[in-house]
Amino acid sequence: MNAQPAPDLAEACAVTLDAPDDFAGWRETARRLLQLRVPPDRVVWSVAGEEAGDLFAASAFVPDAPTDAAPPRVPRRFLDLAGKGLLHSCPDRFALLYRLLWRLQDRPGLLEDAADRDVRSLDELVRTVRRDIHKMRAFLRFRAVSEEDGAEHYVAWFEPQHHILRASAAFFVNRFTTMRWAILTPQGSLHWDGEVLREGPPARREQAAGGDPAEALWKEYYAAIFNPARLKVGAMLKEMPRRYWKNMPEAELIPALIAGAQARESAMVERGAALFVGPRPASLAAVAEGIATCRRCAIGCNGTRAVAGEGSARAELMIVGEQPGDTEEPRGRPFIGPAGQVLRTRLKAAGIDPERAWLTNAVKHFKFEDRGTGKRRLHQNPTAREIDVCRWWVESERLLVRPRLILALGASAARSVLGRTVSVQSLRGKAMVLEDGAELWITIHPSYLLRLGEDARETEEQRFAADLGRAAARLRELAPGV
Ligand code: URA
Repeated sequence: MNAQPAPDLAEACAVTLDAPDDFAGWRETARRLLQLRVPPDRVVWSVAGEEAGDLFAASAFVPDAPTDAAPPRVPRRFLDLAGKGLLHSCPDRFALLYRLLWRLQDRPGLLEDAADRDVRSLDELVRTVRRDIHKMRAFLRFRAVSEEDGAEHYVAWFEPQHHILRASAAFFVNRFTTMRWAILTPQGSLHWDGEVLREGPPARREQAAGGDPAEALWKEYYAAIFNPARLKVGAMLKEMPRRYWKNMPEAELIPALIAGAQARESAMVERGAALFVGPRPASLAAVAEGIATCRRCAIGCNGTRAVAGEGSARAELMIVGEQPGDTEEPRGRPFIGPAGQVLRTRLKAAGIDPERAWLTNAVKHFKFEDRGTGKRRLHQNPTAREIDVCRWWVESERLLVRPRLILALGASAARSVLGRTVSVQSLRGKAMVLEDGAELWITIHPSYLLRLGEDARETEEQRFAADLGRAAARLRELAPGV
């Protein structure tokens, strides 16, 4: 801790944050208080509009820190945990976080002490907030409402337990980019018009429409995907507590589906249709072994060699192509044929070392048309279903590598990462934030350049180089030193 004497504050310091999830405000004030050496028990924290009466006994002013004060020591992990924990609705959270920050100055290893009361409290806050975020992602249901202009618009009502609305915005924008929607909650609302996200005031349940054609479709879908072979009633109720059911159209189907589950399970086993849902591979080597024997789609069954991803297992950048080609398949390495050479050259020109990235493909086997002995096998595009089946492997790689930025080359790669088809031309060169915080950047597949005539090729090469340049600059921001 720095050696500055505590300022002579006769009263406690009152800090009023702008909003219940104002992490930036808390962080900035906590840093100043720390530099002023104001001990945790001399600070009263509150949120604008929710101030407690005894605040009036406190000084409303936190002076600036002395310019020569040493910067506080703040481990990255603490900031990550504090950012989540602050979203909890418990009124003591700001004080707890400041107390921990204060104590960390003398005990940098404090967070490793699982027996410490403050550390345990923070863990509990973070766990609860994460669960609330998960529930919102899983159980929020949009309903279609008709607008005067005839355009489709969707509205969802949700009651989060904690202050997670803003923190969840990127997930919903990313998942439902092409829809116009509003999420209404008692704490505030979010409105997305397909391009811009706006915040609005708290809402009441009656403002979200109930019952609509989309609801009927959703129920049909839910009944179809409800997998009786995986039904565990206790676990289901724990995972999907009854308090969420009232906003979920499919919930009214559950009792009947449970009742019929046994019979449906037997029927499913008879049909041999049980889906393969296995544990995630624990390593990239296990992914490579898994894809070598994967026969979950027709391409996997075509007798070719699977091509695993390669590169740095701790890469900050993951590059997803479409599928191995005629050159890659026999040698079992991605991006070593003509399109791969274009990619590697362009990456280097953009300042990205391909060896330090994780290079992989949306589809792990080569799909081709066989034109007879001695002829080069002709590449065929994978179908959406084939990409979706292989997606499980790409996700497994992503969970292991944990890249900060993913570069998707072409439409198949974009579908593999997002789970839906998007327009490469309209999304290229822009960032999309994924649910784990990684950024997705989409551009064309380099094989496209090889198919163009000379004139068009030059222009497109420049556009490709510009896309890579933007992604590379962003990567350097996200992961300095790459
Ligand atoms: N094209 C791809 O998408 N991936 C490869 O590995 C090679 C060419």
